[in-house]
Amino acid sequence: MKIVFATNNKHKLKEVREILDDKFYILSLKNINCFEDIPETQDTIEGNALQKARYVYEKYKVNCFADDTGLIVDAIDGEPGVRSARYSGEDCNSENNIKKVLFKINKKTNKNAHFKTVFALILNNKEYLFEGIVNGTIICKKKGTAGFGYDPIFKPNGYNITFAEMTSKQKNKISHRGIGVRKLAKFLKNIQL
Ligand code: IMP
Repeated sequence: MKIVFATNNKHKLKEVREILDDKFYILSLKNINCFEDIPETQDTIEGNALQKARYVYEKYKVNCFADDTGLIVDAIDGEPGVRSARYSGEDCNSENNIKKVLFKINKKTNKNAHFKTVFALILNNKEYLFEGIVNGTIICKKKGTAGFGYDPIFKPNGYNITFAEMTSKQKNKISHRGIGVRKLAKFLKNIQL
């Protein structure tokens, strides 16, 4: 079965293709010649995931799913949250986003945080949401070089290493996106088309 994952992010495509296996042929946005910036203007993670999936479904008439993720840090009122990608403003990149989080939580004792991913699936005009959450803590200095985004400062509960010190296989097993995509996969594998 062919289905479009509304992303061109190579890390995410790799993670999701590894989990969804050979029963599904996962196309990226590039594969359907979608090169425009898809709007992500909602103020919730769910809203953004749905907005992206609806955009692709309506314009390209293909079954598809989209995801949106945020890092939610308790001591700073859930920031960066839905603004995780653009947290440090105009010149945002992972380096500056991480610096901003570390600066803001510097004097806070509560370092608890979680990643949340929502997958929005549109299949034959019906919409479905799947959520994945992983709890952990923010460490005060970057550790590790693997992964992307906030991985070097996020230590999942029960582990002494950050996401950036894990292999992609280790991370997939416990990560927000891994949990969310396995729910999506279970649903897709059971559905009768
Ligand atoms: P997106 O909605 O999946 O594009 O994620 C928004 C932002 O959250 C990204 O730009 C990253 O900075 C961050 N992010 C998403 N997933 C991860 C992850 O697995 N590890 C670390 N950071 C992530």
